[in-house]
Amino acid sequence: MPCYESQKQRRKKLSSDKPSIAELKKRLMDLVDALKETEKTVSSEVDDTAADSHERQGRADRIVGVDIGTSRIVSLVQKADGDISGDLDLNGFVRVPHSEVTLQMLKKNNMKYQLSGADIAVLGYGAQEFAALMNGEMQRPMKVGLLTPDEAEAVPMIRAIIRSLVRQTSNPEDTLCFSIPAPRQGYESELIYHRAIFQKLFTAMGYNTMSISEGMAVVLSELAKENYTGIGISMGAGMCNICFSFLSVPVLVYSIPKGGDDIDISVSRVTNESISRVRLYKENSLDLERAPVNKIEEALHIFYEDLILMLLKGIAHVFMQAQTEHLPKLNRALSVVIAGGTSMPKGFMMRFERMLKQINLSIEIANVRLARDPLRATARGCLIRAGVGD
Ligand SMILES: Nc1ncnc2c1ncn2[C@@H]1O[C@H](COP(=O)(O)OP(=O)(O)OP(=O)(O)O)[C@@H](O)[C@H]1O
Ligand SMILES: [Mg+2]
Repeated sequence: MPCYESQKQRRKKLSSDKPSIAELKKRLMDLVDALKETEKTVSSEVDDTAADSHERQGRADRIVGVDIGTSRIVSLVQKADGDISGDLDLNGFVRVPHSEVTLQMLKKNNMKYQLSGADIAVLGYGAQEFAALMNGEMQRPMKVGLLTPDEAEAVPMIRAIIRSLVRQTSNPEDTLCFSIPAPRQGYESELIYHRAIFQKLFTAMGYNTMSISEGMAVVLSELAKENYTGIGISMGAGMCNICFSFLSVPVLVYSIPKGGDDIDISVSRVTNESISRVRLYKENSLDLERAPVNKIEEALHIFYEDLILMLLKGIAHVFMQAQTEHLPKLNRALSVVIAGGTSMPKGFMMRFERMLKQINLSIEIANVRLARDPLRATARGCLIRAGVGD
C-alpha cells in the first residue's frame, strides 16, 4: 500500500536524523510554554494542547492522543488549525441475537454496533444500556489494563470502538500516541502483545504511531509547571499506573493490578448487591468526606481505603528500593497528581491526603492534587507526546 510505503520511508529518514534527548526535551518545554501562555485547561470537549506542534510535524493534518483504558477509550484530536476536539466511549460490548428490528432500532438511535456471526454486538455506552435492560454485565475486551486472552472477539470489538472514535488518515505525517499500562511482573508477554496489536491497528489507520506509559502521560498532562518532575498516578478501572518522572525522564514506572473494578466486585460480594448497582452508586452518590449512611457506602469506604493504602505502601516500597540504586538526588519536595475515574468521588483527595500523612514515604511531598480533568488527563498526555513527535 502506498501509504504504508511512505511511512516506512519516513521512519528510515527519521532514524538517520533522530533528534537528541536534549532536543526532544526542548520541544516538550516549548510546547508547554505555548500551553501556559494560553492558560486554558482541558475542558470536557476542547483543549489547546499543542498549539505549534503541526509545524514540527511537517505537513500534519492532525495529531491524536488515545487513552486505551480497561473501561473507557478516550480520544483527543488536534487539527492543523489548532482546534482540539475529543470523544470517548465505554470499552465494552454486549451480544444480542440478530434481528432486523434490533438493527433498525440501533440505527435509529445512533447506537454503535458490529455484526458478529449470528449476533449483533452492541458497543460502548449502548452496550451498557442493553446490559442493564437484560440485568447483566457487558463484556470487556480488556482486563487489568491489557487485552484479555479469554475473549476471542476482544480485538475486533475494541477495533470497532476505536474506529468509531478515531478517524483514518491518508497523511503519513499525522501522528498518534496511545497509552499503555506499565509493565507488570509475570505479564511481560501480554504487554508486548497488547502494544503490538494497537501499534499495528493505528499504523493500518495511516498514523505515524507511538505509545506512552499511562503514568507518564499524566505527568505530561499535569506537571508542566514542575518541569515534569513529580509523580503522576492514574487510578483507573482495572489498575493504578504510577510514574515518577525527573525532568521529563520517566525514572520509575510501575502499576498495581487493582482499581475501580475491584472496589465494585468487593463491595458487591460483601453487600450482596449487583456489581452494576454498586458501580452506579459509587459513580453518582459516593461522598468519602461524610460518614457512611448505608451498607454500600460503608463497604465503599472500606475498599477505597484499602486501595489507597495499597497504592501508598507501594510508592513507599518502590522509592525505598530505588533510593539505593538509580534514583536521581532529589533536593526538593515532589508534586503528586492523581487522575483516572477512581479518583473522582467527592472527598477522595481529602481521604488520600489524610492517609498520606500516616505513611513514611522516604521522599518529601510538596503537594497532592487532582488532575484538572481526571477522565481525560491520560489522553491529553498522549496528545502532548504525539505533538512532540519522534
Ligand atoms: N464519578 C466517579 N466516581 C467514582 N468512580 C468513578 C467515577 N467515574 C468513573 N469512575 C470509575 O472509574 C473507573 C474508570 O476510570 P478510567 O476511565 O480512568 O479507567 P480506565 O482508564 O478505563 O482503566 P485502566 O486505566 O485501569 O485501564 C471505573 O471503575 C469507574 O466506575
Ligand atoms: Mg486509564
